[in-house]
Amino acid sequence: ISLKPFNTFSLDKKARFFTSVNSREQLIEALIWAKGRGLEVFILGGGSNILLTQDINSLVIKIEISGIEIVKEDEEFVWVKVGAGENWHNFVLFAIENGWSGIENLSLIPGTVGASPMQNIGAYGVEIKDVFESLKALNRATLEQKEFNAEDCRFGYRESVFKHELKGKFIITSVTYKLRKKPVFNLEYGAIKETLAEWPDKEVSLKSVSDAIIKIRQSKLPDPKVIGNAGSFFKNPTISEESWKALQENYPSIPGYNVPDGVKIPAAWLIEQSGWKGRKFGEIGVHEKQPLVLVNYGTGDGFDIKLLSEKIQHSVFEKFGIELHPEVNFI
Ligand code: EPU
Repeated sequence: ISLKPFNTFSLDKKARFFTSVNSREQLIEALIWAKGRGLEVFILGGGSNILLTQDINSLVIKIEISGIEIVKEDEEFVWVKVGAGENWHNFVLFAIENGWSGIENLSLIPGTVGASPMQNIGAYGVEIKDVFESLKALNRATLEQKEFNAEDCRFGYRESVFKHELKGKFIITSVTYKLRKKPVFNLEYGAIKETLAEWPDKEVSLKSVSDAIIKIRQSKLPDPKVIGNAGSFFKNPTISEESWKALQENYPSIPGYNVPDGVKIPAAWLIEQSGWKGRKFGEIGVHEKQPLVLVNYGTGDGFDIKLLSEKIQHSVFEKFGIELHPEVNFI
């Protein structure tokens, strides 16, 4: 079957076998079925962070495990366990309606709850690790369930243990978040303050912060329903303080902000300065408002997007001596 409806890049690659599961039992059944036929398994969530460069000659399992449940609460916090297949943004809206704070800045991020810890999703000053309590995952080899706390997950910038040592070893089935009952707002990001200031009659609330984030995202990021994309294609690179100072001699306007291990440079700026912003190559291209996002205008091919991403990496490296690393997973 075509995976076009199941990846936000809207790439028309095929899966040899496909099934969706809505419980852990069904997931185990599907894994056993694949094993019996000597088939590899590919786990699909919202398909919002993958680049399909070829057909998948295995069993694709789409995780549709649903459910939102309060597992514990005290005066200050509520612990909410969410099925891996729940849509992330729907969960954010549910939290806002209930007055739970912590994830409003992560409004409108595409994808599912199960994918959120995978790459420690983040935006506008908040990362999933800030509200993460634990997750449950199925060991693919033993079919046993294992619980992971935040430390086990080894979260980093767009990173977790599931992208490294445990890559392909576990399937996340639920995530428990610890949210605040009394809102604590994170309005550090300049654009949030600016947008809220445009609405002087609205008070600062979970809803208005979420609305501001939605407005900011919609003004810069292409809607995957209209133009295929997977959000930021590359991670923002970190370079040493010395390299940054050296670059400033030639490029006085180079932006950067301090992080514990050096200076983080917006990849969008590097790509724009290398002349790629808004460029179109047939059916694919570099988004005109946010060059960190590569796009499929309709009938583009994933392999061509991969080639384009490599050309961008080369030219950024030629000009600045900085290596860009993809954030998206190549399949
Ligand atoms: N910039 C340019 N040209 C542009 C756009 C941006 O030079 O056309 C430079 C500017 O210097 C700007 C800076 O990039 O100040 C930062 O831009 P922006 O606020 O759009 O954020 P970003 O660093 O490009 C990151 C995340 C986004 C997240 C935003 C907001 C990564 C890889 N990306 O982008 O996450 O929404 O910050 O927090 O860290 C995603 O992961 O898919 C994603 C969209």
